Parts: sequence; structure tokens; C-alpha cells
Amino acid sequence: MIVRIRADLDRLPGYVPGRTVAGAIKLASNEVSLGPLPSVVEAVARAATEMNRYPDTAATALVDRLATRLDVAPERIAVGCGSVTLCQQLVQATCGEADEVVFAWRSFEAYPLIVQVVGARQTRVPLTEEHGLDLDAMARAITPATRLVFVCNPNNPTGTPLRRDALERFLDTVPRDVLVVLDEAYREFVTDPDVPDGVELARGRDNVAVLRTFSKAYGLAGLRVGYCVAAPEVAAALRKVYVPFSVNSVAQAAAIASLDAEDELLARCRDVVAERERVRSELLSLGFAVPETQANFVWLPLGERTQAFNEHCLENKVVVRAFAGDGARVTIGTREENDAFLSAARSFPG
Ligand SMILES: Cc1ncc(COP(=O)(O)O)c(C=O)c1O
Repeated sequence: MIVRIRADLDRLPGYVPGRTVAGAIKLASNEVSLGPLPSVVEAVARAATEMNRYPDTAATALVDRLATRLDVAPERIAVGCGSVTLCQQLVQATCGEADEVVFAWRSFEAYPLIVQVVGARQTRVPLTEEHGLDLDAMARAITPATRLVFVCNPNNPTGTPLRRDALERFLDTVPRDVLVVLDEAYREFVTDPDVPDGVELARGRDNVAVLRTFSKAYGLAGLRVGYCVAAPEVAAALRKVYVPFSVNSVAQAAAIASLDAEDELLARCRDVVAERERVRSELLSLGFAVPETQANFVWLPLGERTQAFNEHCLENKVVVRAFAGDGARVTIGTREENDAFLSAARSFPG
């Protein structure tokens, strides 16, 4: 092979998606278990009849709809092919090779990969003993080279939330020329009123960008659409590094139909939340350590026992997301799916 591929890609581990195993219950990717609503399927079918045409690359109808929904100017919204792509666009828009991105670790698995692909430097800040983001340490990790900080709230994979006072204090200490990205992929599952809405925090702060997605609560993981709310200049920069047409027309139509059906979808989230509390308290009573969670998953910090737990769940036909040596993340599914998982957890030799 004589093609000259970037040498640093040899050191890049590929993104590891949650596994799908035939005949097993998948609780590995923080999706919602229930299928799409009929109204959304109809919108998808209608949009599919025009798929010979390119999509509206500006996603005008979706952006306008989100702007009204969130009460922000449309200039402050940029859409992306899933919020993971927006993470990449944000790093591309802010960082060159001498620049740094700060994020907690462990957090969303894509952050280190994206930073490396863009070619910037990264600083990982360990979580607290309680498996939450250590905002004081993150603030200390910011240097003159820092351009962007990812703050995942609630954090994936631990589920732990940041509360208003702590987050506002952190935002007040971050230099104004450093972009803080509040990644709120799981916002719709948050029930604690002290966990702030990032869009509200971003209103008075030009250096705060908020990421949201249609993949989780809105059930469109397979269609790939997310959005960012930020200062107009940041949103404009995101549009510059956007791969043209990457949010396709079917995804745009499905996102709008999902906003039309929002009440029904958010009611489903409330069911997930009730199940989350049931699963967590059952796990606690079985003797597992489970940090508090405001997301649609629970985190079991099993350390060296993680791999054995993963295999045990697989033997019981439940697929969880294991991070070897660290812990297992388990998505909250339907009551039956959660019961299957709890039954596996119960028989795990402790
Ligand atoms: C914290 C966080 N951010 C972003 C994403 C990306 O979601 P999507 O690209 O499907 O919008 C995920 C997906 O798991 C996530 O957990």
C-alpha cells in the first residue's frame, strides 16, 4: 500500500457502537425501545416520495420550528447529522492543531475520537468519586490553548447530573473566549428541577453552545438529526463546516413530525423515568453501587468485574454496554426488558 494515510490514525481506536445480538434484548445504545409513532412513519413515507431531490441544506422548516419551540432566533440554531456530528463540527470550527479541548473522562466516547480526528490536543479530567463531572478540576485544566470544553449533562455513561449553582459558577470562571459545549443528549429525561436547561443558560452567554438530539427521547436514532443552539457567530461557523445536505429530507420531515407529536413522545419519557427509578432501586437493593441518574440509563461501576458482568448478561440474552475495567451502562427499556436485565443482575455471582 503506497497511499499516504495520516500516520496518527494508526493510534485511533474506532468508535465502538452498542452491539446488536440476534435474539437478545438490546440495552446498549440508550435508544428508546418503543417504535416510531404512526404519524412520524407517515411523514417519513411522504418525504420518501421526494427523495430524488436534494434536501434543503439549511433545513429551514426544521430550524424555524425549533426556533419557535425554544424561543430563540433561527440564526442561533444549526442542525447536524446527529449531535455527534455537531460535536465534530464544533471542534472543527474552533480548533487547529495547537489548540486544546477539555472534557471529563469517562464521558461520551466520541469526544476523544473527534478531537484526535480533527487533529487538536485533548485534556481528560477524571470524574469525581461520585462518578460526576469535576467542574473545579475542569476549570483548572483550562489553559491559554483551550478553545472548547465539553460538558455532558447528564453525563454519558454515568447518568450523573450537574446542578444549576455548580454549573453557573463554572461558566462564570471560564474565559469568555473558550466555548463551553453543554451536551444535553438526554435532557428530556431530566426530572430534577435543579438541573438547568442549557438553552436558558446560553441566553446570556455567547460562549455557551447547547447540543440536543432527536435520537433519544424522540426515537429517531436511525435517521440522524440533532441541533445546536449557540451565539449566531458560532452557529454560522457550524454551518460553514457542515457537510452539505447531510441532514437528509426524510430526517427533517421526521423531526418536524416528532415535534408535532411531542406530547406523546414526552409521555413515553415519563414512563422511562419511572422505570429508571424502579431499576435503580432494585439494583441498589441487590447490593450494586449505582450513582444517581437523570438519563435513560444506569451506570454500574463494576471495575474489574465489568467484563464478567457483561458476559453474564449476554448469557442471559441481554446486551449492555461494557467499558472494560470501568463499568457497565444499561439503557432503561420497557418494563419486560428491564425485568429481563434485573433477573440477569440478580443471578450475577457477586
Ligand atoms: C452524550 C451524547 N452526546 C451525543 C450523542 C450523539 O447522539 P446522536 O448523534 O445520535 O444525536 C450521544 C449518543 O449516544 C450521547 O450519548
